[in-house]
Amino acid sequence: MCGISGATGAEKAGQIAFDGLKKLEYRGYDSFGVAMRTGSGIHTYKKEGKISDSKFKPMQTTEAIGHSRWATHGEVNQVNSHPHSQGSVTLVHNGTVTNYVALKRALEKEGYEFISETDSEIVAALLDEYIQEGKTPKQAIIAASSQIQGDNSFVFMIDGQEGIWAFNLGRPIRVGIADGVSYIGSDVQAFLEHTNIVNYLDKGDACYLHQEDRKYFSCYDGKEIKKEDISIDIEPSSVEKGNYAHFMQKEIFEQTSSINVSLDQDSVKMSMASDLIKYADRVFIIGSGTSHKVAMVAEYWLAKNGRIYARACASTELSSWMQFIGNESLVIAISQSGETADVISAVRGAQERGASVLALTNIARSELDEISDVTIPLQVGIEKAVASTKATTAQMAIMYQLAKMVDNELGEGLINLVDLSSGLSEQLNPNYIKHVEDMADVILKQLGYTENGNGDQIQKNSMIIIGRDILYPIALESAIKIQEVSYIHAQGFAAGELKHGPLALIEKGIPCIVLGDDDRTINEAVKARARGACILGISAQKHEVFDHWLSVPNRHDVYAIATLIPMQLLSYFLAIKQGRDPDFPRNLAKAVTVE
Ligand code: F6R
Repeated sequence: MCGISGATGAEKAGQIAFDGLKKLEYRGYDSFGVAMRTGSGIHTYKKEGKISDSKFKPMQTTEAIGHSRWATHGEVNQVNSHPHSQGSVTLVHNGTVTNYVALKRALEKEGYEFISETDSEIVAALLDEYIQEGKTPKQAIIAASSQIQGDNSFVFMIDGQEGIWAFNLGRPIRVGIADGVSYIGSDVQAFLEHTNIVNYLDKGDACYLHQEDRKYFSCYDGKEIKKEDISIDIEPSSVEKGNYAHFMQKEIFEQTSSINVSLDQDSVKMSMASDLIKYADRVFIIGSGTSHKVAMVAEYWLAKNGRIYARACASTELSSWMQFIGNESLVIAISQSGETADVISAVRGAQERGASVLALTNIARSELDEISDVTIPLQVGIEKAVASTKATTAQMAIMYQLAKMVDNELGEGLINLVDLSSGLSEQLNPNYIKHVEDMADVILKQLGYTENGNGDQIQKNSMIIIGRDILYPIALESAIKIQEVSYIHAQGFAAGELKHGPLALIEKGIPCIVLGDDDRTINEAVKARARGACILGISAQKHEVFDHWLSVPNRHDVYAIATLIPMQLLSYFLAIKQGRDPDFPRNLAKAVTVE
């Protein structure tokens, strides 16, 4: 979501909003739209598909709002794209209105007709209804805020009245400040190239922006709110691809320095975090998707290094364990974006029971950061690829460091991590990268891939990844990486579990990636090979059971991180070799802000 209100004469608002959307495209790219205010009214352009592929030519105008969509309510098509107009109101929306059916029924009785399947169009009608009743836009926001349920944010324009209105009911809104111009975005990246001075709208805050006139007020009682101008320190060029073909590739290679940077933490905060872990009666580590796999890795480290019994839990599953959470408990919430709705909702549930919350997130002032007792920032810079890589390894490095601190072994922990980090540039040398690429070729050949340019040429869509101990969650995480960017059905298993069912999946030539070379893992690999699997070893030592092998430097107990990095690269190659764009995997969004 983004928008701009510029001084008369600027006249490039449509282009600026469109450029802002390109910067936000990685967060949702099913369709997009821009509404532009002109002398003859508000003109809206909407299009299915990627913004960067569009030939849209913005009109000359000084006010515009835009949106890139990740579909929730209603299929991906032009009608369901934002902005949505009802009466005088043209609106863009992030979030989910949970009571949209009831609101829709009531508005239909008032004569409103809806053309889209979205909950967003209903809020446009709700605001319009209040305005038609004679309420001011501010009064309409206050009235609508008391009606709308769920976590949402809205930005809208009113036909015939200059200015942009916005209100935050639980999803981020940032205002960018410049001379004669106001910008708005769900993320600062929407306007970062124009200004780095930002006002943050908290939950329950609303604003009116007209050129440099900026008014903030409460959505609940309309009282005026003062906002602090905050200068943010992100170099716009750091969020560009530079010489890399894809953000995913760039971010994989950035790990040669990002792990080190993530270790440079405020020691007071790290001590507070390790004390929270040490003195909690119960520790739950939560996250979604990849961040959940980091939680699983951390569970092993806390057990082995910190001698702490912790439970890793997908954030959507924590509700089943709530009765064990009380005011002596700790929830460690891991989230790159700090916005994942499932994580936020689990954290809020635990807080209601009195738990303390330690957050690991990459985004300062994200909702997770704001609601947690202690936040450890990942410090890896903006991660743009949907597939998380550099944030993942930073999350792991920080959790490892905390586990070592709990065990009073901080020094040794740091040595291991610095050793891992400094060895990475060496590991990712051109020769090694070629080996990873060759392994991708072997896998695609085994799966019967033939290149004919239509993108769907795999004959057998199945591969298996096994690992033991900490390499078990690494197998699960590797499978997520492969699934999301290459669309190959990859599944991770605890090595010893293979014989308890999944072995039935093995047929001749099925690729089975074996992480690690310990005797027990090899013992399982042997069984898979005996049934015809093609065994691809990723380990420190070569073993004769491996049909193909990729070495991983032995990095003490951070070997898990060293093993994950070639798996990230392998996923990348499996995507690009099939002509898939790893930065825009189908059906996914970078920040999943809906439950
Ligand atoms: C996969 C991936 C997702 C995210 C998940 C949680 O590569 O990135 O599985 O890990 O959506 O996101 P965050 O960490 O932002 O809470």
